[in-house]
Amino acid sequence: MNIVPKPPLKWAGGKRWLVPELKKMWQTHQHRRLVEPFCGGLAVTLGLQPDTALLNDINPHLINFYLHLQQGLDATITSEEFEKDIFYARRDRFNGYILNGQENTRESAVLFYYLNRSCFNGLCRFNRKGLFNVPIGSYKRVKYMVKEEFLAYQSVLSNWHFQTGDFEDVELQSDDFIYADPPYDVDFTSYAQEDFLWDDQKRLIKWLAQHDGPVVLSNQATDRIIKLYKEAGYELMFLDAPRRISSDGDRSPAKEVLALRNIEKPVSDPTQMKLF
Ligand SMILES: C[S@@+](CC[C@H](N)C(=O)[O-])C[C@H]1O[C@@H](n2cnc3c(N)ncnc32)[C@H](O)[C@@H]1O
Repeated sequence: MNIVPKPPLKWAGGKRWLVPELKKMWQTHQHRRLVEPFCGGLAVTLGLQPDTALLNDINPHLINFYLHLQQGLDATITSEEFEKDIFYARRDRFNGYILNGQENTRESAVLFYYLNRSCFNGLCRFNRKGLFNVPIGSYKRVKYMVKEEFLAYQSVLSNWHFQTGDFEDVELQSDDFIYADPPYDVDFTSYAQEDFLWDDQKRLIKWLAQHDGPVVLSNQATDRIIKLYKEAGYELMFLDAPRRISSDGDRSPAKEVLALRNIEKPVSDPTQMKLF
């Protein structure tokens, strides 16, 4: 049996729960290169296991971590290292690398992993100066990957190409299969230093319009996103996301939209649609 490794990081907006649905769309396109302009926590690429992939994200620390994992990162961190003084000393050290322009180092990749697993909710936030500012998480215990687990990713990632930058700088080939998972259309979405604004959602649709190959897009199903995607000629599917809408006390599941272009809509088994 082909064992698919779990995403190595905690990442906001991770789409592991969408993989069964995306697999149905990917099935007849597996000969293609998979392109993820917003690869984030890698849940989708790890789930689909393409032979070739181009994986981009605007967060340079995230991509630096994957590049070092790909080269073979033999780090070992023990649970005893989840400790307040160690956490803040390592956060300062990580920020020191950023200030010195040395954020591409191996140690910076290990520190990024440590901070991701140890900080509050695995958030990845930076202040105006670009320095990581998430406090320590309120966990009883943190289990970090051991050396063998880090090294196991080396072969899994070996045929995939990683790059960092804005999605518009991703160079597409006409037969690529694109899965685009931009930050949700909600206020105050900030993954890296830059916010992803409404203009960026529109810019993404314009950029994707030049692509002749299959495109799958996912987003929060807000009224304006539904309108934008419909007007751009996408076929839409709606799913209940595993997270709940929590503002103003509403506990109903958030609605997710999957938007498809140049690809057949899979026949959905209604019993498979409850994904949580
Ligand atoms: C919803 S997350 C992707 C989650 C991913 N699909 C997963 O399963 O883990 C969106 C990602 O877009 C990245 N991002 C934000 N603005 C971007 C931009 N302009 N270009 C490329 N990536 C961007 C963020 O850093 C974040 O990792």
